[in-house]
Amino acid sequence: MAVAGTRRFQNYIAGEWVDSASGETFETTSPATGETLGVFPRSSAEDVDRAVAAAAEAFEEWRLVPAPRRGEILFRFGRLLSEQKDDLAELMAREMGKVLPEAAGDVQEAIDMSFYMGGEGRRLFGQTTPSELRDKFNMSVRQPIGVVGAITPWNFPIAIPSWKITPALVCGNTVVFKPASDTPLLGERFVELLVEAGLPEGVLNIVHGGGGEVGDRLVRHPEVRVITLTGSRETGVEVMRNAADTLKHVHLELGGKNAIIVLDDADLDLAIEGIVWSAFGTSGQRCTAASRVIVQEGAYEELQSRLVAAAEKLRLGPGWEEGVDVGPVINRGALEKIHSYTEVGLDEGAKLLTGGEVASGDGLGEGFFYRPTVFGEVDPGMRIAQEEIFGPTTALIRVRDVDEAIRVSNGIRYGLSSSIFTRDVNKAFRAMRDLQAGITYINAGTIGAEVHLPFGGTKDTGNGHREAGQAALDVFTEWKSIYVDYSGKLQKAQIDTSE
Ligand code: UN1
Repeated sequence: MAVAGTRRFQNYIAGEWVDSASGETFETTSPATGETLGVFPRSSAEDVDRAVAAAAEAFEEWRLVPAPRRGEILFRFGRLLSEQKDDLAELMAREMGKVLPEAAGDVQEAIDMSFYMGGEGRRLFGQTTPSELRDKFNMSVRQPIGVVGAITPWNFPIAIPSWKITPALVCGNTVVFKPASDTPLLGERFVELLVEAGLPEGVLNIVHGGGGEVGDRLVRHPEVRVITLTGSRETGVEVMRNAADTLKHVHLELGGKNAIIVLDDADLDLAIEGIVWSAFGTSGQRCTAASRVIVQEGAYEELQSRLVAAAEKLRLGPGWEEGVDVGPVINRGALEKIHSYTEVGLDEGAKLLTGGEVASGDGLGEGFFYRPTVFGEVDPGMRIAQEEIFGPTTALIRVRDVDEAIRVSNGIRYGLSSSIFTRDVNKAFRAMRDLQAGITYINAGTIGAEVHLPFGGTKDTGNGHREAGQAALDVFTEWKSIYVDYSGKLQKAQIDTSE
């Protein structure tokens, strides 16, 4: 597939492709090679204001389009994504870095979500319920909220926009989309396909640029009624604070420090496969990645040596090359941050078992590659066991029993994903109940959420909302309760109580 080179791209506002008001630009480059893939508008508050005005205007008509018709556009979008799956995966391997099978999975997640949310067009169920009074009908219905600001990360550049934008649209909202400035090309393809699927003008707008300008203006704009953000905890706190003045709804999906627990009775082959996939897949750049492995003492030594051997077998390289297991990390800043955590781990006295260095040479060129890294003898309180690294680094923690394992797993500020490998059904059920996380896997790693279940986390991972599944609808609608009195007389709730 031809990559874009130095082609200039634009924002999409009110149904037109336009430059930023300032005319300033930035480039998107491949983390595997450093090559430039495209030039994008570096937008400012002025561009955001135009996009919000367009979305606010389009809302008045879009909210009245029957929801099944809105859903049909999402079905067409899903089909277009399917037709272009291979090209999009290739582009993702270039722009974001993940390996082709994972990139195809990212696109598949968006296909699944589009079909799922397309189907919501014929559901969006509310409730009907009896009234306490005679000849009176009660119901509650979901109503769209207005303009949604969708701020998405680079690690799932097609899937995560679909998690936010498809439910927002089917519910009848309009959207201003700010994709991560590391993956604008994929954001632009996402919008092009939704436009091709038949979205009316102004319903979806894309404004490229940085979080400090574009994202911040969206968060503060009085006419944006919902902000949905996937990003770091720090950004989430700032967004919530800055959104407070306009009392907009804020949906946050933030960090994780997810652990896999391996008990003595576990199937070790399976556990090691699960750890390798969850710790080093996507180069560890998932908020669901397993950056801790909590191992019961009877299994510790064997698991440690087999995990190190498995990590050392992984092949690094550009994501589009056949046989590559681990692609680059997203940019130089990420590479430096990941390496700084290796130094932190060493300073804290953890034992570096493998990796711990930038990988170069042998076909790795100018790319940002980091060797899969395993630390042993990690104390649960160490920074490498507490802070989100967002790279291919995992920490082995030794525990005595299931009680300690669950305590250690919970002993962090985040609560996104969790996992336990055991053959003991009683222990598995205890873990399901007691692990403090939005997601728990039994005999599987920490990654691999499906689109029809709620996705999100407890504690500092978010602010109580969920993406995906039916739960996503709560972010993008407000409940309206409707009382229809057909008695022909004034009946007073709570007062006319006789019968
Ligand atoms: C993320 O890293 O933000 O469960 C999302 C998973 C994927 C989604 C990850 N389906 O790992």
